[in-house]
Amino acid sequence: MYRPAPGLPGRRWIDRLLSKRARRAASRDFLFETLPKGGTVIEVGVFDGDFSERILAINEPAVLHLVDPWFTRDDGSLYDGPTQDFASKETATAALEEQYQQVAHRFAREIRAGRVVMHRMLSHDAAMLFPDEHFDWAYIDASHFYDDVKRDLAAFLPKLRPGGYCAGDDYDRRGIWDHGVTRAVDEFRLHPSIETIRLKNHQFLIRKRA
Ligand SMILES: C[S@@+](CC[C@H](N)C(=O)[O-])C[C@H]1O[C@@H](n2cnc3c(N)ncnc32)[C@H](O)[C@@H]1O
Repeated sequence: MYRPAPGLPGRRWIDRLLSKRARRAASRDFLFETLPKGGTVIEVGVFDGDFSERILAINEPAVLHLVDPWFTRDDGSLYDGPTQDFASKETATAALEEQYQQVAHRFAREIRAGRVVMHRMLSHDAAMLFPDEHFDWAYIDASHFYDDVKRDLAAFLPKLRPGGYCAGDDYDRRGIWDHGVTRAVDEFRLHPSIETIRLKNHQFLIRKRA
């Protein structure tokens, strides 16, 4: 039987956390009803790779590119804002290094097979690595601040094939970024080459017209 050590949270706390993660993961699954299988895909903003794993399992892309800096700004702050507390730049750097290594380990088999490619860099630098019309779909989930989301959408639109999709998280959520995703996506949806497919469960799903 599970017995938490003194001072550690009990089983019910763990169950709640796990079921929250599972619910959150499942709330995005409707995207996979639309996103084409077997394509060339990019996830921008990876964190610990939980959603990457779901993409691999459900969408079965031919190649999945994963982009995240897993490093801090020069002043030690995180690129997506103060979402985690670190005592110093050194602590943050060590934690991000560990997260990077864990993601690399998690997908080691797929990386060896050439099915997953990790890019330890910022989104706009990564966008420049790829020719236009390269991706079947992209998941944009990096910094949620308005200017950053706007820049990511603009950087990856040309990289989508005609008829390709772009999805992302935290639409219609205020967060510390003050509706940055919603504002940037709503502006972007007015673009004549963009068609809105679904807005549901805080996900946006848009399409580049063929
Ligand atoms: C919300 S998390 C991503 C979660 C992941 N997509 C998932 O669903 O499991 C945001 C991630 O974006 C990364 N990030 C922040 N700014 C970025 C940027 N400019 N380019 C690439 N990644 C960035 C952060 O390091 C963080 O790991």
